[in-house]
Amino acid sequence: MTKDFLAVSDLSVYEFHRVLDLALEVKAKPRRYRNALEGKVLAMIFEKPSLRTRMTFEVGMLQLGGEAVYLSPSDIQMGKRETPADIAHNLERWTDGIMIRTFAHSIAVELAAAARIPVINALTDLLHPCQALADFLTLKEKKGGLSALKLAYIGDGNNVCHSLINAAARAGTRMAVATPKGYEPSAEIVERAREEGRETGFAVDVVRDPAEAVSGADAVYTDVWASMGQESEKQKRARLFARYRVTAALMAKAKPGAVFMHCLPAHRGEEVTAEVLDSPASVVFDQAENRLHAQKAIMLILMGKTK
Ligand code: CP
Ligand code: NVA
Repeated sequence: MTKDFLAVSDLSVYEFHRVLDLALEVKAKPRRYRNALEGKVLAMIFEKPSLRTRMTFEVGMLQLGGEAVYLSPSDIQMGKRETPADIAHNLERWTDGIMIRTFAHSIAVELAAAARIPVINALTDLLHPCQALADFLTLKEKKGGLSALKLAYIGDGNNVCHSLINAAARAGTRMAVATPKGYEPSAEIVERAREEGRETGFAVDVVRDPAEAVSGADAVYTDVWASMGQESEKQKRARLFARYRVTAALMAKAKPGAVFMHCLPAHRGEEVTAEVLDSPASVVFDQAENRLHAQKAIMLILMGKTK
């Protein structure tokens, strides 16, 4: 596997399934891995807020016998106090891995290129690969396999949507993405996923109509309409995205037994109604739990010796 985990598309089809299988094993037998990263330290760079990502990386390192050090936005001031490369050359002298949540994806790429130690992308404006791993782990648990499924994504063609497309291309999961005009996922990511997903049976339709996207879907996924860093566009987006809210009526148009997914945090009454979020179909807290297991698998592979 590559030194870093910056994108799900860094993984081959084999590696993608290996990570999910290891995550399932770590979840089933956590005690077996409690010393696996003994003495190892993960530096966690956060330039944006977080609940799940911070908790799951920190708890994950503790449960693997290692430690994590949290660096807040005001500590590092990436690019203002010093360059990503200089930060990398410092951190690699003291720690065994770096996790970064930042704005421009190029910052994570620059950090990884300079660092001798593994760098894990914990969300950039472009991608959220750890989220997609946890989500496909959740789908695998809930639905058995991945290759016969259809995943509908409704709303903003953002970082989470991009990583889901990359993961679906590896898993052979069909996708339909419904967005307002101008908010489609990156054409480059869609095209590359189509090319790379040819061998797995992946396909993706990018459409306008949410009802068309959810038709026949085994899972319906949404995310916030304004991501971190887009707060000033909140009102404009709320107007444009109004018909993309996931409601009980929209869920009823999916396949019977379809699950509802969201990376969280959710804005109740905006991209999803409280009724859907709190319904028996909702697997959002399973997704949140699986962040822990998926990231433990990634850290074991990149920072330790895996069995
Ligand atoms: N889903 C997710 O990444 O949550 P946080 O922003 O709270 O880390
Ligand atoms: N798209 C959201 C995901 C949060 C986990 C954001 O970037 O803010």
